[in-house]
Amino acid sequence: MKNELKGMFTEHWKYLAVNAACELNIFDKIFNGQNSSEKLIHSNNWDIKTLMNLLDFLIYDGYLILNNENYTLTEKGNLLREENPDGLYYACLNWSGEHLLAWQNLKYSIQTGKSSFEQIYHKSYFDYLNDQPEKLYKYHKAMFEYARDDYKELPMIIDFSKHNSIIDVGGGYGAAISLIKDKYPTISCLLFDLEKVIEQVVIENIEVVCGDFFNEIPKFADAIILSRVLHDWNDEKAMIILQNCFNALPANGTLYIIENCTDKIQSNLSLLSLNMTAMCQSYERSSIEYKELCEAKGFSFKEAKQLNQLQTILIFKK
Ligand SMILES: C[S@@+](CC[C@H](N)C(=O)[O-])C[C@H]1O[C@@H](n2cnc3c(N)ncnc32)[C@H](O)[C@@H]1O
Repeated sequence: MKNELKGMFTEHWKYLAVNAACELNIFDKIFNGQNSSEKLIHSNNWDIKTLMNLLDFLIYDGYLILNNENYTLTEKGNLLREENPDGLYYACLNWSGEHLLAWQNLKYSIQTGKSSFEQIYHKSYFDYLNDQPEKLYKYHKAMFEYARDDYKELPMIIDFSKHNSIIDVGGGYGAAISLIKDKYPTISCLLFDLEKVIEQVVIENIEVVCGDFFNEIPKFADAIILSRVLHDWNDEKAMIILQNCFNALPANGTLYIIENCTDKIQSNLSLLSLNMTAMCQSYERSSIEYKELCEAKGFSFKEAKQLNQLQTILIFKK
């Protein structure tokens, strides 16, 4: 029991070591030919002893293989290359920095129910990101990497062909709407997000519109996708977004909500929920709580479909 505890106290070191390797682009460097400690030291002027410890750990934990003094990437290490278009490099970076500071201040959230991030930075997480283009870019690259993988089955699970037009509200860099457009090329697809996000978006065949979902959502589509948006907001704010979705849809329009629903999956979501409180003063809800919010705004619930091990698609009609 004591050993289990002692191990747990320092489990975050593993992530932080891999995170440092990503920040230094070690996986890309090895892939691109700096594949020995000598070459890495020579090209980057790093401290040899500390680098060797890091590389040893990366071998031990299955990211690298050492053969005749040359390193190669394992499949896991390859996923952490910035240049890998199917990788998780930005997803790895996402949980250090401000996220870690917010978690270190978690007791404030427990004591008050408020965001520990906001106590430190004196603004909401999205306002903070909006003020810093590079951080905003890294955050959205991370969300895109998660979304592209998590939503890959979405166009197969839902038959979107019944819609003429779909808008992905708070769609970030457009992973979900791109997957839908690829499978249903005749549907008009639109991506809606904050101005600073839309300025950075690179996307083909999809119309992009910027705006604030607390003000107005364009009346463009007969279906709205709201994926991993509502969990960022408390009930009061989530209701404003839902009201604006209701206003934007025509009669009989469809609302697809994609979220981690606490009652629909096997895993325990308490830590995810604590993260949402620390960062955004929100929490992960059950499908029943989502239904209550939507029904309070006039939507009627149709059905729920499981998207993957974590996310559920809740389908509502106006
Ligand atoms: C957690 S991300 C989800 C992104 C994407 N839908 C996904 O599933 O990966 C929340 C999104 O809401 C957007 N957002 C936040 N505040 C917004 C606002 N006031 N108006 C429009 N979009 C907003 C963010 O820029 C971000 O893209």
